[in-house]
Amino acid sequence: MLEVKDLRVRVEGKEVLKGINLSLSPGEILVITGPNGSGKSTLARAIMGDEAVEVTEGKILLDGEDITELPPEERFKRGIFLSFQMPPEFEGIRIGDFLLEVSGEKGEEGVRKVKDVLKKVGLGEDFLYRELHRGLSGGEKKRLELAQALLFDKKYLIFDEIDSGVDVESVEQFLRIVEELKEGGKGIIYITHNPLSLQLLSDKKTLRMEGGVLH
Ligand SMILES: Nc1ncnc2c1ncn2[C@@H]1O[C@H](COP(=O)(O)OP(=O)(O)OP(=O)(O)O)[C@@H](O)[C@H]1O
Ligand SMILES: [Mg+2]
Repeated sequence: MLEVKDLRVRVEGKEVLKGINLSLSPGEILVITGPNGSGKSTLARAIMGDEAVEVTEGKILLDGEDITELPPEERFKRGIFLSFQMPPEFEGIRIGDFLLEVSGEKGEEGVRKVKDVLKKVGLGEDFLYRELHRGLSGGEKKRLELAQALLFDKKYLIFDEIDSGVDVESVEQFLRIVEELKEGGKGIIYITHNPLSLQLLSDKKTLRMEGGVLH
């Protein structure tokens, strides 16, 4: 289980999260919605261990272990993946090489897996040779984030507006993939403003962030 207990967080000296409590089990979708600037992405970054986010009170537990002080790589290793609202760009890193590396597979088998996943999220094989996130359109970036979520095989997935900027025809496909991940036993935090997602995602718990408080 992923648990957040009485979490208070500051960013640049400003208190952004004011006592957050949540728990997420494998095979569960927790939807978080709420106004711009209310603290949703900050919560995602706090769970992932972003250094810019200062935890002043409370803790984060992963399967009972306190991970509040661990760096992001360690949290990742232990089973948390965050798909960014605005994915950063990396010069000189090819998407294909990156995905192959993270897929944990090698050779032909790995390449086939990566190609299958790209296809599933609606990206052609030409993207294998593009640089990571550089020059990708908004929706293409989101597709690549979803591809990573499929390949990384982490226990807990945080999707921060994975459905924003994605064309309406594809949102339903995205939601199907998210539900498949849930069925496969992933615990998912799904941050969204998208009415279609709120309507179509089934069997979910929905919480609302307002002014750094989660209701
Ligand atoms: N690095 C920073 N410096 C200053 N303020 C910050 C920083 N990061 C976040 N904040 C502030 O913290 C508050 C919460 O931001 P956050 O990104 O968590 O909002 P959000 O709920 O994800 O909003 P949105 O729906 O627009 O994505 C905002 O007022 C934001 O301006
Ligand atoms: Mg946000």
